[in-house]
Amino acid sequence: MTSQTFNIDAVRSNFPFLNHLINGHSLVYLDSAATTQKPIQVIDCINTFYSGAIANVHRGSYSLTGSITNRFETARKTVAGFLGADNDCIIWTRGATEALNLIAQSYGRQTLKPGDEIMISEMEHHANIVPWQLIAEQTGAKVVKWSIDPISCTLDMIAYKNLLNDKTKIVAVSHISNVTGTLNPLKDIIKKAHEYGVVVVVDGAQAVVHEPIDVNAIDADFYVFSGHKLFAPSGIGVLYGKAALLDVMPPWHGGGKMVEKVSFEGTLFADSPAKFEAGTPNVAGALALEKAILWFNSLDKKKAKQHIASLQSQLILGIRDIDDLNIIGLQQGANVVAFTVEGVHHSDIAILLDQQGIAVRSGRHCAHPLMDVLGIKGCVRVSIALYNTSDEIERCITAIQKACNLL
Ligand code: ALA
Repeated sequence: MTSQTFNIDAVRSNFPFLNHLINGHSLVYLDSAATTQKPIQVIDCINTFYSGAIANVHRGSYSLTGSITNRFETARKTVAGFLGADNDCIIWTRGATEALNLIAQSYGRQTLKPGDEIMISEMEHHANIVPWQLIAEQTGAKVVKWSIDPISCTLDMIAYKNLLNDKTKIVAVSHISNVTGTLNPLKDIIKKAHEYGVVVVVDGAQAVVHEPIDVNAIDADFYVFSGHKLFAPSGIGVLYGKAALLDVMPPWHGGGKMVEKVSFEGTLFADSPAKFEAGTPNVAGALALEKAILWFNSLDKKKAKQHIASLQSQLILGIRDIDDLNIIGLQQGANVVAFTVEGVHHSDIAILLDQQGIAVRSGRHCAHPLMDVLGIKGCVRVSIALYNTSDEIERCITAIQKACNLL
C-alpha cells in the first residue's frame, strides 16, 4: 500500500487542466462543487479503456468479456470499500440524481400510501426535492418541509424532532449543503428517524470529497453520490442501500441483465445489484471512478482537508470586510464560501471574475427553496478543491474587491 502524502505541487502535477487559459489569464477554477477537474489517472483510464479492445460486461463467455467484467466488479468492490459497505449494496447509476430517482420510484412507490409524509430539508438541491415531489404526487403522500435557521444555515433540529411522527416514512437530507457547505449531523438525524422506523436517504454528492464516509457507522439507509464531484467522469454515480431494503425493492428500469428469466407470461428478476442495473452500464465510468477513488485514497485526506480549510479562511478574511458583502451562513462550511453583495447582481460579479480567468458559480445553485428562505435571488459561490492554491485565492480576493469597487 502506498503511503499517504499531501504535497500541493505533486497534487497539481496530476491535473492537466491547470495549463488552461481563460480570457488571457491562467484559469483559477473555483467551481469544484459543481464538478471537479480530473486527474491524469482518470483521463488515462478512459483513454486506455477505449484505446484497447473492449467488450460488454456480464454477457458472453469469451475471455475478453470475462476480464472486463472482473475489472468492473473490482471497481464495485473499491466503491464499496470507500463507503464501508458490502459489494452487493452498491448499485451503479448515472449520478446522484438518478440514484435519488431510483429510490423514490422503487422504494417510495412500493412503500408510500396516501397521507404518508416525506420530510425534506430546506437546504436540499433540486435533485433531492423533485424526485420526492413526483413520487408524492403519484402515491398521494405529502412532502413536508424541514426548516433551517436562515442566519446560521443549519438544520433546525427542534423542528425536526417535532415534525417526525407516525406518518413520516422517509427523511431526505444532504450530508453537506451544496450552497453553504453546512455539514449536517447525520448520526443524530438518522438515530432519531429510526426511533420512528423512518428510512433516511442521504445525498452525499458534496460530502464524498470532504468527509470520510462509513455508511454503517452513520447507519444510513441509503447514501448516494456522483462520480464527477469526486474527480471521476460525469455519467457514473453510486447508490448504496441497506441489503434488507434493496432485497425487497422492485426494479425501476427494465431491460437486459436485470433478469433471471423472461417469458411473455412474465419476468423473474435478478437479485440486487443486477436487479437495478438494466442495460449496458457505463463500464468506462465505473473503472474511472475506481481510479479516482484510488488516487484520492493515496492522499493524506486530513492534510488535504486542512489545506482546503486554510484556503477557505484566507478567502473569508480577504472578503468579509468588503462593503455590503454578506457571507451566507455563520459556520465555515465545507469547501465553499457563498456570498451576496447588496445592490449588485451575483452574475455581474461572476462575469467580472471570469474576465480575470476566475471560474465561480453564480445563481440559485439548483436550490430555489433555499434562496427563498434566505430571501435572496441568488448568490456567488466560490468552491475550493484540494488542487487550489493560496495564490489562486489571493487572485480571487483581488478580483472580488475590484468587481465590488466597479459595480
Ligand atoms: N449540484 C451542483 C452544484 O452545486 C451542480 O453546482
